[in-house]
Amino acid sequence: MKLLLTNIKELLQVRENCPIKLSGAQMKELPTLKNAWIYINQGVIEDYGTMDKMGPHQGFKTIDCSGKIVLPTWCDSHTHLVYAGNREQEFVDRINGLSYQEIAEKGGGIVNSAKKLQETSETDLYNQSATRLEEVMRLGTGAIEIKSGYGLTTEAELKMLRVAKKLSENYPIPIKTTFLGAHAIPTAYKNNKDGYLDLICNEMLPKVAKENLAEYVDIFCEDGYFSVADMERILSEGKKHKLIPKVHVNQFNSIGGIASAIKHNALSVDHLEVLTDADLEALKNTETMPVALPSCSYFLSIPYTPGRKMIDAGLPLALATDYNPGSTPSGNMNFVVATACIKMKLTPEEAINAATINGAYAMGLSSTYGSITKGKIANLIITKPIPSYGYLPYAFGSNLIDSVIIKGEEVK
Ligand code: NIG
Ligand code: FE
Repeated sequence: MKLLLTNIKELLQVRENCPIKLSGAQMKELPTLKNAWIYINQGVIEDYGTMDKMGPHQGFKTIDCSGKIVLPTWCDSHTHLVYAGNREQEFVDRINGLSYQEIAEKGGGIVNSAKKLQETSETDLYNQSATRLEEVMRLGTGAIEIKSGYGLTTEAELKMLRVAKKLSENYPIPIKTTFLGAHAIPTAYKNNKDGYLDLICNEMLPKVAKENLAEYVDIFCEDGYFSVADMERILSEGKKHKLIPKVHVNQFNSIGGIASAIKHNALSVDHLEVLTDADLEALKNTETMPVALPSCSYFLSIPYTPGRKMIDAGLPLALATDYNPGSTPSGNMNFVVATACIKMKLTPEEAINAATINGAYAMGLSSTYGSITKGKIANLIITKPIPSYGYLPYAFGSNLIDSVIIKGEEVK
């Protein structure tokens, strides 16, 4: 199919030779073309330019984008989109004064979601998750990562990853999967964390690898969950199965997980709400992408990742949703971009770079997604008529998306 978008008020993130990631001052620049067109052939970006230099285009399906802005779809590199049920009661408990940690200690939190998921059939889990995936695609997400970690038994962890795999077969956006067996210590192993780690290493990881269910391995490295030593063990074991680390670190405490993840060549380190100067130094001149999850900070009322400070120190930064039932029941990347500007003091240019090309990098997808570059997959957001791209994070509560194009086709 040949598709042509014309009269685009501004085409964003146009890069002839797109770097695989942007760091520090590079993030301030968002190359654009005003009064532009873009031509899509067989789902791929074939050419683009300004309206004064548009060639003949007979026989193309044409969409007039007058007044509208076009940009690459969001690349959401951190979600737990496959889950069962919800946890709005814990939300009310937090309003009434309990902390996230106190709720977890009472048997709520991740183990509560695990109980619901274990009782949910694979079909039901698929249907609940597909509804969420369709919602986020309509909100402009065109590439996504999904983690396990609400199963906490071999059977339930495999069930989650099979559902994610089935979603990737049935939907046209890339879905990357991550094995997060070490998300919490299940009730049955309450006083035997090492026994659970043995189960992960001896049973879960080999099965996940054998069925080819995940590309990445993750662990929640945090006081009360898993230590740095536990992380070292899981990442080393994952490596034997060719799984690349992408880890949860520094959400509530800095316990040395970042340096250790970097040592294991983690593709990304995610959360980072509590970041020491030593952590920041450790991230410099590495291939590891720091990922901030501002909707999680918003929902839990915890500190925001110091994104401004990180970018000023020359680091790259990606933005993702963390969509999950406990800390972030929202998969809306538009809100993430706005919140990064409003609360983390990123400029619109920096936030858009963080949510597109750097998000793609954090999923190993930056050679095919995350920018308007010839040969990349044509996953695009067409906005409603808006005055400028700065209006996107500014008008944070409005749905400013007119349509979403995935591989050259409109999402219905
Ligand atoms: O990334 N921090 C760990 N895991 C999830 C939340 C888990 C939950 O509360 O269900 C997160 O925020
Ligand atoms: Fe998470």
